[in-house]
Amino acid sequence: MKVLVVGGGGREHALCWKIAKSPLVTAIYCAPGNVGISKHATCVDIKVTDIESLVRFAKAEEIDLTIVGPEIPLSLGIVDRFQEEDLNIFGPNKASAEIESSKVYSKNLMKKYGIPTAFFSTFYDYDDAVNWVKEVKPPLVIKADGLAAGKGVIICRTEDEAIDVLDDIMRSKIFGDSGKRVVIEEFLQGEEVSFIAFTDGENLIPLESSQDHKALLDGDKGPNTGGMGAYSPAPIVTPELHEAIMDQVMMPTVRALKEEGREYKGILYAGLMIDGSDIKVLEFNCRFGDPEAQPLLMRMRSDIVPLMSTISQGGVAQGDIEWYDKASVCVVMASKGYPGDYKKGFQIDRIDDVNKMDGVLVFHSGTSEDDDGNIVANGGRVLGVTALGDNIPEAISAVYKAVNHIDCESLYFRTDIGQKALKYI
Ligand code: AMP
Ligand code: GLY
Repeated sequence: MKVLVVGGGGREHALCWKIAKSPLVTAIYCAPGNVGISKHATCVDIKVTDIESLVRFAKAEEIDLTIVGPEIPLSLGIVDRFQEEDLNIFGPNKASAEIESSKVYSKNLMKKYGIPTAFFSTFYDYDDAVNWVKEVKPPLVIKADGLAAGKGVIICRTEDEAIDVLDDIMRSKIFGDSGKRVVIEEFLQGEEVSFIAFTDGENLIPLESSQDHKALLDGDKGPNTGGMGAYSPAPIVTPELHEAIMDQVMMPTVRALKEEGREYKGILYAGLMIDGSDIKVLEFNCRFGDPEAQPLLMRMRSDIVPLMSTISQGGVAQGDIEWYDKASVCVVMASKGYPGDYKKGFQIDRIDDVNKMDGVLVFHSGTSEDDDGNIVANGGRVLGVTALGDNIPEAISAVYKAVNHIDCESLYFRTDIGQKALKYI
């Protein structure tokens, strides 16, 4: 089977690494891929947004299965276009992907079907939004409706801050059309969990639990990023909580989408806030998390390809996924300055040494190769160093040994990834 993976970050590196282990697969291509991915797949220089070129490539190479990593091509309708051409593709279509690409759509869906989420209101008009902010008491959370590369959600502790944020989004249009509408919602306390499942539109096959670290700095301080590290399993998700998440969130959402005529096939990711036994949905994503995919895929024993292939062909998702009875921790190494401006081109040494460490893999995000064949930093999030251990403390110690061995003056990382899990074990 010939597989094409769309994307070029750490998540797609982990996917290509995992897919390369499948005995069903004879060739892997990745568009655009990156220098780390090129060890497992043939990288093809096509942008994830260039859907027509991707269609032409899949036809010319007779690709049997295309797997989409990031949300942008899904929200642009890559699945609809491939299906029009009778090409197999794994992921939700454009209408279903709206669960991520429009926060207004997803909040209204949750409200209509009683799926637990923060109290909210949506606004098209700046003055109405400001008046509402003056009525309800901060802290509150303002969310641009559309995709904004993880930057469109701002927590506001005071009324003035909230009004400034509304100015930026609705008047100065810092997120362009993504900020035409906003959701304003109550601020929730608790601990975040990523709950990710495969679905064929009716049946769900949940993955093991995981937890991301969205904030830039230790102790969850500083601005939000795309994710600075993740671990799996997340021991806060007890078997009881797992059941409750399936009953209160995952099953009702898949049913609701079907009821709305938007049957959802692919990966459904619920970003949850857990406060004791209380579960609330912060957001839905229409794809694997990045960096959650890295620790999850390292722990996955089952071949991932048959399930993705079945779902892409409209088959029934059944059976369980088998997992290694290990914990895994991924620490993201990012360019200093990220999520703001940063410099590129710094050389990174000793990645090969780290890849030789037992149970450790370095997944590449923003890297490239210079003319002398050195790996250099070329993006915001640069590496996702990921380690397996018999338990979370052992995985933490293995991953930081690896991270500290990577030699690059321009990379920053959090030093507390996984610490939150320790209080539960
Ligand atoms: P979202 O993209 O909606 O998941 O928001 C990004 C991040 O903002 C989340 O991962 C949370 O850390 C934070 N966040 C979003 N909504 C809320 C909320 N209602 N209360 C507290 N934090 C939130
Ligand atoms: N790690 C968060 C996300 O993928 O959206």
